[in-house]
Amino acid sequence: MDSGPIPYVPLNPSGFKMAMGLRPLEEKDWFQVDDRWAEQVGKKRELLEIAPEVVVATRPQGDAASAEVLGLLLENLNTFHPEIDRTIDEREHPLVAASRLVQEDLCVLVKSDTWRLEAASVCCPSRWFLPSKIGRTMDEIHGPVPGYEQQLASPTNALFDRLNGEKSYWRLNWTLIDNPELHQSKSIRKAPSGHLSDWFFRVERQTLRFIPDSRGILFTIRNYVAPASELAREYENFTDDLLRSIESAPSAMREYKGWAGVVEKIRAELD
Ligand code: HEM
Repeated sequence: MDSGPIPYVPLNPSGFKMAMGLRPLEEKDWFQVDDRWAEQVGKKRELLEIAPEVVVATRPQGDAASAEVLGLLLENLNTFHPEIDRTIDEREHPLVAASRLVQEDLCVLVKSDTWRLEAASVCCPSRWFLPSKIGRTMDEIHGPVPGYEQQLASPTNALFDRLNGEKSYWRLNWTLIDNPELHQSKSIRKAPSGHLSDWFFRVERQTLRFIPDSRGILFTIRNYVAPASELAREYENFTDDLLRSIESAPSAMREYKGWAGVVEKIRAELD
């Protein structure tokens, strides 16, 4: 991780690209613990307490893989982040017990007819509602994402079938948003209000790892948010790359991400 306001600014200088963009993941990088651990884990625990029906969704089909995930996560923390208190409540669903220990959100997929989301603890959704996704296939989950079916559905399903204990992966997503809260469970698609100086750049770091004994997959999601104005000060090309990325995104994607009118606003502000 570098020392900027957030560790990743994944803007492609040549414009928007719809791609899996997978990179190999090492075991030591599965979970990222930083100086916001106490604050963010505290917020997750509060949400798990007050809104479990929004941030947790499980089906019995995900139980075995969830228990295995908890074991693997505890082992990983023991090796790479021994400073974390690893006390767990045995009566709790194992995925929730696991989720209390890390800043990442956790999703378990298991293959039946196809890969389905069978257990999840998601406290920091970026404008989607977990209960509507549980038990769903990858294609159904991504139903609202323009271009997913045409460009990403087959390679993603093929990757899931190919995943094994040897290789794990990570990837990044980003968006521009007018609210810095990590928990946003309403699927708002409207353009951000205000101006660039009021907006935030939100990056999702996601990992995919095979869970060998139960033959499931763990998908983790970690969010990083910084004021767009801070990134514009920090990185010379930030505003140019941002404008190019938004402008070159297909219009359906701009609508979906809530970027309609954003380029015009930024350009007017720069003038
Ligand atoms: C290689 C694997 C994956 C790829 C390439 C992928 C790709 C994408 C893309 C392009 C988007 C649009 C949002 C954006 O770009 O900011 C998206 C949204 C989303 N993805 Fe994935 N994704 C993957 C895995 C997963 C998995 C395993 C889950 C399981 C929970 C998931 C859940 C979602 C959800 C819930 C959304 C928001 C959908 C909505 O707006 O209702 N993704 N994904």
